Amino acid sequence: MRQYWIPAIMSSELERDREPVRLMLLGEKLVAFRDSDGNPGIMDERCPHRGVSLFLGRVEEGGIRCVYHGWKFRTDGTCIDMPSVPTEQACPHLVKARAFPVRECGGVVWIYLGDRSEPPALPQIEAALLPSHEVNVYCLQRECNYLQMAESDLDTSHFGFLHLGCLDADDFPENNPLRFAAENRAPEFASSEMPWGTSYGAHRAADDNQRYWRVANFLFPFWTQSPQGDFNDHIDARAFVPMDDEHTMMFHFSWRGKSRPLVVEDKEGKPLPGLRNNNVLLPNTTDWYGRWRPAANPQNDWLIDREMQRSRVTFSGLDNIRTQDQAAVESMGPIVDHAQEHLVSSDQMVAKTRRRMVKALQRFVEGEAPPGVDDSELFRAARGGFFVADEAIQWPDVYYHKAEGDGMKHVAPDVSISS
Ligand code: FES
Ligand SMILES: [Fe+2]
Repeated sequence: MRQYWIPAIMSSELERDREPVRLMLLGEKLVAFRDSDGNPGIMDERCPHRGVSLFLGRVEEGGIRCVYHGWKFRTDGTCIDMPSVPTEQACPHLVKARAFPVRECGGVVWIYLGDRSEPPALPQIEAALLPSHEVNVYCLQRECNYLQMAESDLDTSHFGFLHLGCLDADDFPENNPLRFAAENRAPEFASSEMPWGTSYGAHRAADDNQRYWRVANFLFPFWTQSPQGDFNDHIDARAFVPMDDEHTMMFHFSWRGKSRPLVVEDKEGKPLPGLRNNNVLLPNTTDWYGRWRPAANPQNDWLIDREMQRSRVTFSGLDNIRTQDQAAVESMGPIVDHAQEHLVSSDQMVAKTRRRMVKALQRFVEGEAPPGVDDSELFRAARGGFFVADEAIQWPDVYYHKAEGDGMKHVAPDVSISS
């Protein structure tokens, strides 16, 4: 993961010359702040002098000043003041705070935690590279390993149960594609390795010798794209960033032009139970794990409502989609034991993605750069969404056919497709 740029914190969380934020990323304790010129900085929590936490630091006049002996550091780690020693003995040029390269893009501050002196390019994932006024970003923390969360996005067969288990196709308006998930809870699908990771297409017969496809992707090292919108303009991606092995921060990027509705309505325009697409968050605290926490959590059984479950108002007894997914992945425990699982054909995407990851890791150990690090352009060809296509076209050709044909050109004219 250190080979890639990773989303670190939302730009809006860092205010110029205001207090630093504790940030846990890949098991590293870091502090993030924004200097007087507006530049974000992220560095090791420990002051390089005697290890006092820079979380306590004063962000002032172009840097962060440690409160113990007053040493001051710029966002790039350069020491610019050493006021605790006589001027002629000061040696700021010999000390550097352990700061990491950062970039700001799409409303998010990105960090490179790798050891290359020249970091690679940002991953060319279209949702993550939208200009900040065109992108919606939100964060959500969950108490489990990142892979559990990413795999939940790729586990299409849970949709008809966890989210829609007590609804029928007839409950949805004609034009709502969720009706297909309620109509057929055991869909056919195909999956394959792709340059960016893996993809699946769930498919069913449609009118006039067509097939209806719902496509989702896994992108290295921890991204997903789900089929929650029309392929033509569904620019959306989620990063499941490991805070440590047992805590994950999700960053959801989506194009503002096509926001997902917060409520799914029935034919009369009334909200359908259990399908709200938002949840209640606790106020942020300064703790390492204090940001973007849902109010429903393992300690309160995710606020499960047994009466709602018994009376079949919802299948799960959990009242919104985010909490349903959260309860599913957190209830597995912090790191699920794969040896206890029984994967079947409907889990092929999960299995294929694990194998693809293991293969990439083996190649990395042999000295090859992981997919998309030196060739980040390959991510540009990845998008999730639904579409209809001629039934004669097989998977995965049908994906490239759609993407090359008309799919990705409407909103991303510079996209180049690599197959
Ligand atoms: S420990 Fe930070 S200045 Fe001394
Ligand atoms: Fe889900």
